[in-house]
Amino acid sequence: MPNLKALVLSGGRGTRLRPLTFTLAKQLIPLANKPVLGYVLDQIAQTGINQIGIIIAPETGHYVKEYIKDGSEWNFNVTYIPQEPLGLAHAVKTAKNFLGADDFIMCLGDNLQGQGLTTFVQKFTKEKMDALILLKHVDDPTKFGVATLDEKANIVKLVEKPKKPSSNLAIVGTYLFSSNIFDAIDTIKPSWRGELEITDAIQKMINMGFNVKAEILNTWWLDTGKKDDILTANAKILDEYTKCDIKGTVQESKIEGRVTIQENTKVVNSTIRGPCAIGVNCIIENSFIGPYTSVGNGTKIVDSAIEYSVILENAQITCVDRLEESLIGKNAKVTKNQRNGCLKLHVGDYSEVEI
Ligand code: G1P
Repeated sequence: MPNLKALVLSGGRGTRLRPLTFTLAKQLIPLANKPVLGYVLDQIAQTGINQIGIIIAPETGHYVKEYIKDGSEWNFNVTYIPQEPLGLAHAVKTAKNFLGADDFIMCLGDNLQGQGLTTFVQKFTKEKMDALILLKHVDDPTKFGVATLDEKANIVKLVEKPKKPSSNLAIVGTYLFSSNIFDAIDTIKPSWRGELEITDAIQKMINMGFNVKAEILNTWWLDTGKKDDILTANAKILDEYTKCDIKGTVQESKIEGRVTIQENTKVVNSTIRGPCAIGVNCIIENSFIGPYTSVGNGTKIVDSAIEYSVILENAQITCVDRLEESLIGKNAKVTKNQRNGCLKLHVGDYSEVEI
């Protein structure tokens, strides 16, 4: 078992995912019916680490606690650390008592990458680094921390969300640190967005002469910060992990490809085309559920066709000819109005409706 701790950032306000984040922490948005955070915790558990600190926000911390509980599902010894959302470096500073003088891996609870964590933990420990960051080539680096490397892959410069990026290498939300990170954090000031940026702290570590290295990720990386990312992430996770597993009852229906249907769900006179995940206690009747769709527990879909969408728990979708690329919240109802040309909406704050 490695002599490291893990720090998982599960706070933040989730403003980019409103209205879902009024009643859910953004890290708990399900992909193939399992919270993003669950996949992150699985990857940490695979490294053998069991001392884990979870950063939580005042507004959504109770949802995260309800999900992780005492951590025994992953064999973790959990410490919850409340933090006002003032930046990633601020989160590390807030966790100082928990982290002590130990090395640690830091993961963002809404970021997932396909390579797992074990090889990075081993490399960091073996080469006695002070920081190891992961990078990934992206199309739009302005949304991320960006790294410039020299020809030997040493880090030359790190900038948070640059307007004119000098490379397309984004900083992925997985970091390894020695306790020297605290000295660097003590010297930085809040950025233009009012946050203590971890990117600035790592740049300080480089300036202070610490051993800071970067690895380029050669697999997928998902950042589930906003709606379209969630749909992409859901599709990716369904592609990677869905198996054919039918536990519910299926009558006069066609199931094609890799489809998971959980206990107590009834599919009647419908076509389900995978990859697709359907939770427990759902009713699917006279409908088509197309590829890359996840349907949460207790949902009822009648006389409708849905594709490439994420439907959360207890939603009801009735008589909707074609629903695509949609993210539907818990207990939401979507129905076709029988009066031609008339739209009737009851839409929550910060919702988006495309007609
Ligand atoms: C944070 C980091 C950024 C990193 C990104 C990865 O951004 O500040 O450097 O590239 O996570 O998701 P934020 O989500 O706070 O905008």
